[in-house]
Amino acid sequence: MSTAANTPAWTPEFKDLWPTLLLRRRLPGHEEHADTLVELVEKMDREHEQLTARFQAVDIFGLDHPGIAWLRKCIDESVQAYFHRVGMDYGIKWSVSGWSNTNRFGDYHAPHNHAWSYLSGTYYLKMPEESDVEPRQSRAPSAAISFYDPRAAASMLAVAGETLGNYEFTLRPEAGNLMLWDSALTHSVHANLSRETRITISFNISLTWTEQNLGER
Ligand SMILES: [Fe+2]
Repeated sequence: MSTAANTPAWTPEFKDLWPTLLLRRRLPGHEEHADTLVELVEKMDREHEQLTARFQAVDIFGLDHPGIAWLRKCIDESVQAYFHRVGMDYGIKWSVSGWSNTNRFGDYHAPHNHAWSYLSGTYYLKMPEESDVEPRQSRAPSAAISFYDPRAAASMLAVAGETLGNYEFTLRPEAGNLMLWDSALTHSVHANLSRETRITISFNISLTWTEQNLGER
């Protein structure tokens, strides 16, 4: 039987293949635009029944609103930063579509991905401060988001110390945060346990096709 107890004196070459990237940033200007954007979403929510479930009813980026124009600019900059990080620096073009989510007490989003998109993301417009009830069966914080290891079942033999052993990565972004990720990545939103609403604007990034996208294969 062998035992791994000591770090070897030599260093082999390791390569992280196919990393999963999550972009997170605090948007400058959130305080300036948050109130009018919350007003906009609440008005839309009153005018459209089941707006969060039927999210394709309104493309929020088609609205003429200074806060939406600001958010669109922030999203474009974030997408550019993501593409730069992964080496897609050849003038790639994309389009953005978006929708609002208003989660009331108990609302959640079951695990899903965003089919037919390249990147997906969320701007956290309003996050409730804390839970109004004690969670009984979930360790996840109220209204948090979880991302799941795309290597299905890879965690079944994970042992202590293995950094990739947790199949679920959970975080609770603050109001003003924007997150961006690969659309194929399965994620879920945990139940909002606060009487206050959780309001977000989610979006999909679709690439505009050009022959350049194929590159040399
Ligand atoms: Fe989603």
